[in-house]
Amino acid sequence: RRIAILISGRGSNMVSLIEAARGADFPGEIALVLSNRPDAGGLERARAAGIEALAIDHKAYSTRESFEQALDAALRERAIDFICLAGFMRVLTSWFVGRWEGRMINIHPSLLPLFRGTHTHRRALEEGVLVHGCTVHFVVPELDAGPIVAQAAVPVVPGDTEDSLAVRVLAQEHLLYPQALRMICEGRARLDGGRVVFAEGW
Ligand code: GRF
Repeated sequence: RRIAILISGRGSNMVSLIEAARGADFPGEIALVLSNRPDAGGLERARAAGIEALAIDHKAYSTRESFEQALDAALRERAIDFICLAGFMRVLTSWFVGRWEGRMINIHPSLLPLFRGTHTHRRALEEGVLVHGCTVHFVVPELDAGPIVAQAAVPVVPGDTEDSLAVRVLAQEHLLYPQALRMICEGRARLDGGRVVFAEGW
């Protein structure tokens, strides 16, 4: 399995995937990191890890479609099988999502279906939930609405701020995302008819 990671920022989840995939028994290889922002800190971190890292600047394209065509071409040229979105901050059209159906996952910093979209930690604190967390899901055209592959929960504790909660959730993201990717690469979780089918006995 040749895996691409799509980022827009610092890429801490990307690093956790790269590190996990270095393990000799990992059933896939991180073959490419792509960013829509040339200044994303994650690009340098990927290169330092010896992985091809490419910026495809969405601002250089006049339409969302032409940007996505460039993205798609870069992925296909490198025979990528599977995409992990990791802090990738561009909304993808149903054309792109359809082309990668069942072969693209995302990590979202909330227990979906709660708190789709941005500012999830602030909204969790505002709502007063006492359990929060993160979710890995297959990507569908509707934002943060895809079938769930894996989740991890953390407590919300008295005195929490947006930042302290983000740190606690992020630590779980870094554990959860590699686990979820492994499950999918090993065929223990797959998308079938719009639902995730889990293999028995795992
Ligand atoms: C993470 O919180 C992830 O869940 C969200 O964006 C953030 C990206 O952080 N989608 P990083 O770039 O992986 O450090």
